Amino acid sequence: MNTASAKATERPPRVFLETFGCQMNFLDSEIIRGRMLEKRFEFTETRDEADVICFNTCSVRDHAEERVRGRLRELRIHKERKPETVIAVLGCMAQREGETLLDRFAHVDLVCGTREFSRIGDYVDRIRDGSGPILALGESDQMPPRERVDLRARQHEAYVTIQRGCDRACTFCVVPRTRGPEVESSMDDVEDEVRRLVDDGVVDVTLLGQIVNAYGRKMGGRASLSRLLRRLDRIRGLRRLRFITSFPTLMTNDLMEAMRDCESVVSYTHLPVQSGSNSCLKRMARGYSADAYRRLVERLRKTVPDVELATDIIVGFCGETDEEFQATVDMMREIEFVQAFIFKYSNRPGTAADRVMPDDVPDAVKAERNQIILRVQEEIQQRRHRDMLGSVQEVLVEGPSKRRKEVLSGRTSAHRIVHFPGSEHLTGEIARVRITDCTPLTLSGELTEVA
Ligand code: 5AD
Repeated sequence: MNTASAKATERPPRVFLETFGCQMNFLDSEIIRGRMLEKRFEFTETRDEADVICFNTCSVRDHAEERVRGRLRELRIHKERKPETVIAVLGCMAQREGETLLDRFAHVDLVCGTREFSRIGDYVDRIRDGSGPILALGESDQMPPRERVDLRARQHEAYVTIQRGCDRACTFCVVPRTRGPEVESSMDDVEDEVRRLVDDGVVDVTLLGQIVNAYGRKMGGRASLSRLLRRLDRIRGLRRLRFITSFPTLMTNDLMEAMRDCESVVSYTHLPVQSGSNSCLKRMARGYSADAYRRLVERLRKTVPDVELATDIIVGFCGETDEEFQATVDMMREIEFVQAFIFKYSNRPGTAADRVMPDDVPDAVKAERNQIILRVQEEIQQRRHRDMLGSVQEVLVEGPSKRRKEVLSGRTSAHRIVHFPGSEHLTGEIARVRITDCTPLTLSGELTEVA
């Protein structure tokens, strides 16, 4: 774009930002919004109105990347018509593909990796001043600056990143390549941030990390997730504290005891098992057997009696046989997860699986196994929800439901969705709700009292 026309537009440039992928990406997008608003950018929901079009991307499966490639293809004509529009690819896919993205999509102006978010505003300014395309990937062991989150999708809930990156080498996973090695924030910084959020009206905090229960290992014993939970639990006004995602072999007794002892820490843990088959787990290099996972769940349930477990499952991983798949189904029936995220295996360039194992389960088989496991999980959720009929649940009210304004939507401490009639002013309160109806995904009921 030429400088003259940039200066001619008096109004602040408008940014359209679309986010793909996990919670951490959504939080990163909030951080990007905050920093760009400070630099006098404005945001728009309409792509056609935007001067800057940003995609904060996900690389964990090819499908997520393909959606972004589709968006970029659509934008070719847009860029011909409005060449002054800045097009930016941010986050994991930017980090993974780097220069290739600029080569393949000549209309992309900025490729900005996962460690450079805080500078996006400067890069966009430079591009608008005529710098030409910018590739910003950062140093791999660089600690991203601790960023304040000033914007939140919900008034009473907040996410706080305490650890980024991953040092593990699961053979299927691209995250160590896109997010780099583990880096962590200090306990003081996290506590300050949570206090600030609580002062600002937040009652429900989720701590985020790719391997959140590894938190502290880079600080040589000076910090751990259990100690952090105990510190945060003392903050008055913080009613719910959750942490995602944990790695099974790193669930220590200390952490389980902190979950049991801390009033604000919910009895919910997201503990991806990925597969119920020993041989498959070995090929995935997960570092535990199916029985070790079972023993862990037993230990957890003994220490935290009302704990609920959520999980991730990959179906159709390289070489997965019918017997191996059946072992996963059996494990799901046995453990009865409160929630399971099921993924069809997607080969990712540069992973160990990509290098040494053929992606040999046909798509049709992956799709069939996916369906089978979804049905099994649905059955489990329906049965467990039926068991809850008549019970009274503590529900943190998130606000009016999307479809009906007079119906409130909230969550139990195990993150189950509950709908009940009530007025908007209960938002942010914990309500006691008698459960009267259910589907596999949601519960509904009526208000008994506000806690
Ligand atoms: N294919 C399919 N699913 C994957 N996941 C990670 N990598 C892949 C892949 N290559 C799933 C895992 C992980 C979740 C975030 O995504 O289940 O826990």
